[in-house]
Amino acid sequence: MRLASAPSIGKDVITMLKEQHRQAKLTFERAVRLRGKELAAAFLDIQRLLLSHEAAEQAIVHPVAKLIVEDGEAIIAARLEEESALKEALAELRALEVGSARFDHRLQALRFDVLSHARREEQDELARLARLIDDGRLKQMTRAFGEAHAQQWVADLSGPGADGA
Ligand SMILES: [Fe+2]
Ligand SMILES: [Fe+2]
Repeated sequence: MRLASAPSIGKDVITMLKEQHRQAKLTFERAVRLRGKELAAAFLDIQRLLLSHEAAEQAIVHPVAKLIVEDGEAIIAARLEEESALKEALAELRALEVGSARFDHRLQALRFDVLSHARREEQDELARLARLIDDGRLKQMTRAFGEAHAQQWVADLSGPGADGA
């Protein structure tokens, strides 16, 4: 499951972000049915997916949307606030015992928050961006997104928890 969020060849960054949202939804659905080591592995997948996804959005997509989408400033400020709350929730989960009642409860809450965030992002940001952006800019962003992910994989492969799967 490691490479589930790897950018797919030939797709633009907006399509890839929406695919990652779907991937996150499926990974949460899988995780909440698992226990023990399998749950811990799924939680690791969730962390990798969310952290690299939000980092790439913040570096590559939000700054452009902020400029060209109507009310971009307010829309992106709201998304950034949600993203920092998601990051905090992940850190809180990491401090809990995987599979404890508290962990399960917080994981469910995170699942809900991630899906709501993704839904708002698709409606208020990505759909509007897709209508407004020109091809050249979109290609440039897509390239940058691929590069950001390539770096992420290198970090993953050499970092803690790397399992070569
Ligand atoms: Fe986001
Ligand atoms: Fe997103």
